Amino acid sequence: MKQTDNHILVIFGASGDLTERKLIPAIYNLYCRSFLPEKFAVLGVSRTKFTDEEYRKKVILENKHLKDNGSADKQAAFSEKIHYHAMETSDPNAYGSLKDRLTQLDISGNYIFYLSTPPSLYEVVSRSLSNVGLSNEEDGWKRIIIEKPFGYDLKTALELNKQLLSYFAEPQIYRIDHYLGKETVQNLLITRFANSIFEPLWNRNFIHHVEITAAETVGVEKRGGYYDGSGAMRDMIQNHLLQLAALVAMEPPVQATESAIRNERMKLFQSLRPLSPEDIEKNVIRGQYTSATIHGETVPGYREEEGVSPESRTETYVAMKFFIDNWRWSGVPFYIRTGKRMPTRVTEIVIHFNPTPHHLFVKNTGVMNQDNMLIIRIQPDEGMLLKFAMKIPGEGLRVTDVDMDFHYKDLADTYIPEAYERLLLDCIQGDATLYARGDAVEAAWQFIDPILKAWETNPNIKMYGYPAGTWGPENADDLVEGKHKNITWRYPCKNLSNDGIYCEL
Ligand code: BG6
Repeated sequence: MKQTDNHILVIFGASGDLTERKLIPAIYNLYCRSFLPEKFAVLGVSRTKFTDEEYRKKVILENKHLKDNGSADKQAAFSEKIHYHAMETSDPNAYGSLKDRLTQLDISGNYIFYLSTPPSLYEVVSRSLSNVGLSNEEDGWKRIIIEKPFGYDLKTALELNKQLLSYFAEPQIYRIDHYLGKETVQNLLITRFANSIFEPLWNRNFIHHVEITAAETVGVEKRGGYYDGSGAMRDMIQNHLLQLAALVAMEPPVQATESAIRNERMKLFQSLRPLSPEDIEKNVIRGQYTSATIHGETVPGYREEEGVSPESRTETYVAMKFFIDNWRWSGVPFYIRTGKRMPTRVTEIVIHFNPTPHHLFVKNTGVMNQDNMLIIRIQPDEGMLLKFAMKIPGEGLRVTDVDMDFHYKDLADTYIPEAYERLLLDCIQGDATLYARGDAVEAAWQFIDPILKAWETNPNIKMYGYPAGTWGPENADDLVEGKHKNITWRYPCKNLSNDGIYCEL
């Protein structure tokens, strides 16, 4: 069991949405499950003036995201651990009073600083903490958690890493990517490296292509202002989807340790084949949702959303094809796509195996895809599905596809922690395995940067509109090339085992 020291978690951006929706509920769950040490405190920091009592009311009593999993007494006891400090985060002179407040709380010299602020404040906050000695580890450990977006492009990511490293050392810096904290994402390592049946097939000799989808039904909601300056490439692909690709494709680590696992993820990013200007034109498709009626309700197009420019050319959908230049994956295409306002919310990885070398049997017509597939469902209906061929009972030797599936919901009494819960606990315990290392973030940007630059400068690259509630621009299907004429993406449903026409969305 790893050690959980007494500590204070300082949250900058404490009156924001993330704190209320994810961070406080995650800490509360850890508290209810007795993962927190005897002495700990949370200190919320932001500009708005709250007393401790008012802040506790906001983030605990009136917080609808807090699961009712503890008794009233438990909640009251937890509430006592929450404190608030109003200050101007962008003012370096305000940090002396923050330090005094931390000393007054008298918990321990171990601090986590969680930066849930706009990225423009990352530099000033880390510099000011360092100026007043709050990055110094003489009297206890100091860790800083940086939320995404980590940089806006390669240049700004390099600058940000450089700035952070002048105030904190790399082992003190935790760059969060909440996808890595998802239980099903961590299970990728177990699926691959704790089973002997998959890994021997996990290479160019047996895998035809790999597909990763992260679809959302929601639009940009209240985040239009942020999103319009970001887009799907920066918001989802550069971080979450590339991290998924790394876990699917990386080599086995020598040991299950932080540095071994992070080294392998890093090596994978370094093996991504850079996209040429022609590849970008041909193999990266971007789209933007337009207004449509979904289940009788008219939803606005992206350009009509609050905070979004009416002439915006920001993408809400990306589909792309790329290759990994290493021994294992030579010649195997990877297809990834993400989009807002898709027909269903689903994140999954589909491993498409090669067809049999010689076709002995007539396949049943009307089957969507006739080769073996392993589907690793990240969310929802978390689980795994293997599709394989079977003889249709009766005369002749006719073949159809059947499913073998495992669903997390079938596990009795299993508690599946939220991503933030797992990640916060790891940081408290000093384990950065599921956080992104600086060099890996830079390598991921290195791959993405030319696409963003091409989109800015090449007027030939189209932006396709797609009606809200659909699977995005139709030509994304043309990206997927294969042995069958009609090969496309898998069109998943809410339930893992269904796809295609018979679907609950
Ligand atoms: C966030 C993005 O990082 O991930 C959001 O900024 C997106 O735009 C979200 O909605 C998706 O996360 P999840 O866990 O709901 O798949």
